[in-house]
Amino acid sequence: MIDIENQLTLDERSTVDFVLSLRKRWSDTLYPALAEEYRGAGPVTSDLEEATGRLHRLSLYPWYSHLERVQQKMLWKAVGEAVLGRAETLREQLDELPERPKGDLRLSADTELPDWYTGYDIHIQPGSFYTDDLNAYVYELGARIVMLRDNDGYKFHRLFTETALPDVPAASRVVDIGCGFGKSTRPLAARYPGAEVIGIDFAAPGLRLAHAEAEADAAAISYRQGDGRATGLEEASCDVVTGTMVLHEMPGEAISATVREAARLLKPGGTMAFLEFQPTGDAFRDATIYEHAERNNEPFFRDLFGSDLLALCAEAGLTDATWTPFDERRDGKRPEGWGDRREWHFPWAVLTATKPQN
Ligand SMILES: C[S@@+](CC[C@H](N)C(=O)[O-])C[C@H]1O[C@@H](n2cnc3c(N)ncnc32)[C@H](O)[C@@H]1O
Repeated sequence: MIDIENQLTLDERSTVDFVLSLRKRWSDTLYPALAEEYRGAGPVTSDLEEATGRLHRLSLYPWYSHLERVQQKMLWKAVGEAVLGRAETLREQLDELPERPKGDLRLSADTELPDWYTGYDIHIQPGSFYTDDLNAYVYELGARIVMLRDNDGYKFHRLFTETALPDVPAASRVVDIGCGFGKSTRPLAARYPGAEVIGIDFAAPGLRLAHAEAEADAAAISYRQGDGRATGLEEASCDVVTGTMVLHEMPGEAISATVREAARLLKPGGTMAFLEFQPTGDAFRDATIYEHAERNNEPFFRDLFGSDLLALCAEAGLTDATWTPFDERRDGKRPEGWGDRREWHFPWAVLTATKPQN
């Protein structure tokens, strides 16, 4: 498959590189300076509202807040133009499948997309992720920059599968809810080579790209269009159910329904694991995270942060439910905590729970 990045013109390359550098400097230079100004601006508070008010009065705040939003818009513009310039070839390669595919793609035109999903452009990506096949390419390339190139080669998702998921040599079925363009599903196929690996998502464009890429690499994955809240898969049929970066994109009720669905799907002894975000308890940091979500059109962070998913897991019949910090740079799951970091970064955390043996 074509990797657009290998084909960028000098002009396109310089734009993409500029956006990436801008994002890095915003995170590793501007944010620490803002944090320092914040620390000097008053006594420590654990009150989120007070911290937010203080944040807004900092002299660096207008730079910080506007750059956060504007670099995201620049990203989509740069990446969108690069994709549009190769539209025909990119569309064509989605249909260039091997004669004997290893996996399959099941699209269901009748999948109902809820209003909370279609009502806004998530991540401020124009047209969101589900409206056109090209949007999946835009999202794929954009995500590399959003992750500051730290997730190239699925590094981040591999860390998740390696450190947060159990060894299950005899696993027969593993499901990835909200699999997008397959970034989270591919490492699952490597981790559970004997299992049927199923990726489920609302968005047909992402699934088409995921399927074409998997087949190009001879990875046996079944991609299916559907709703993570009601997958249609049989009860107690899965050894592992995962989701990465999907719960925070749903309103509270949908988050609960998805966790309940994961519990329903698990076999006795099976494991559920969602890679998500959690509040840190540092009011300044949490204030910037809520603002990041708002500026980035991710309206349901508060729903995730306000949901008691540990209690919900217990209600759904799961045991040992825990949230564990996750460090995307090297350790993956990190029970000792996030540790100190100067740069702006997501408060990654993994929700795990198990279905008791009968
Ligand atoms: C931020 S992306 C994450 C994709 C992938 N898991 C990854 O880590 O790159 C969230 C994905 O969840 C999908 N999604 C959100 N809610 C869903 C639901 N209820 N059912 C199925 N897919 C959903 C979106 O279409 C999107 O592809």
